[in-house]
Amino acid sequence: MNSISDTFLLNNGVEIPCVGFGTWQTPDGEVAANSVAAAIENGYRHIDTAAVYKNEKGVGEGIRRSGVDRESLFVTTKLWNSERGYDKTLKAFESSLLTLGLDYVDLYLIHWPANLKQFQNCDEINAKTYKALEKILESGRVKAIGVSNFLVSHLEKLLQNTNIVPAVNQIEFHPGYTQEDTVNFCKENNILVEAYSPLGTGQLLKNKKLIKIAKRYNKSTAQICIRFVLQKGVLPLPKSVTVSRIKENAKVFDFNISDEDMKIIENIKDTSRIGSHPDEVPW
Ligand SMILES: NC(=O)c1ccc[n+]([C@@H]2O[C@H](COP(=O)([O-])OP(=O)(O)OC[C@H]3O[C@@H](n4cnc5c(N)ncnc54)[C@H](OP(=O)(O)O)[C@@H]3O)[C@@H](O)[C@H]2O)c1
Repeated sequence: MNSISDTFLLNNGVEIPCVGFGTWQTPDGEVAANSVAAAIENGYRHIDTAAVYKNEKGVGEGIRRSGVDRESLFVTTKLWNSERGYDKTLKAFESSLLTLGLDYVDLYLIHWPANLKQFQNCDEINAKTYKALEKILESGRVKAIGVSNFLVSHLEKLLQNTNIVPAVNQIEFHPGYTQEDTVNFCKENNILVEAYSPLGTGQLLKNKKLIKIAKRYNKSTAQICIRFVLQKGVLPLPKSVTVSRIKENAKVFDFNISDEDMKIIENIKDTSRIGSHPDEVPW
């Protein structure tokens, strides 16, 4: 990867720009519109939102405000947990399109797997939900479909019960939490892994080992985290509403982390999962 508009190839031949712009916790309205427009002006071509972020309206506005052709952009949104099941998923997708003000999205993801903690028949629910995504794919209003927060156990069941291998699995991934089992399974099955919370939702930026490495490269700690993800062959989704940080996070293509430093970052054990565990979430 040499630039932010370079792409990974998904398993269905669709190209996906190699850094996505995260929008979780970005307030709807002007903040979402301005930050998305600023990201696009600074070279990002991939925007990640979700129905539950309640900012699809502002994200759509930012996309239009940027003036960049829709076809040059890659937009992801996600199905929220309350809308699982075949019919509800079809309706939720329509609602997301309407709120975004778009006539298609590039990637539609199941946000979280239904789990055993809540549903005896969780595998059946996940398969039915995913079959609605397959139907939407067939309609041409989405270019690729996938999942988020799916562990190996969820993926194995999904692959058994559905027809189209997910193009993407979006999971928590950052220094100190690299979910090797899930990543290896995805690589073996040609599912691209996207890294959410690549900066540990900001918490990793205080990590002393990362700060020390960043100084050696004359880069920021955030840039080291994002570059680390890219060098692992995973697609990072850094979020910011601050223009200077949006710019900084895009400048990760003029240096390489050495193999030795990659190992040090891989072995950072004093950070771990920050988000929820997919088998434990009660929602
Ligand atoms: N699928 C899922 O379940 C899921 C879960 C979590 C996240 N995600 C996706 O992944 C994206 C990223 O994850 P995330 O939002 O958890 O957090 P993140 O990108 O790891 O970190 C974002 C935080 O770091 C700050 N920040 C960003 N760049 C910085 C820089 N250069 N210097 C200092 N601080 C910086 C941001 O502050 P400001 O914004 O104030 O600048 C914000 O507080 C989300 O936005 C979302 O799109 C998906």
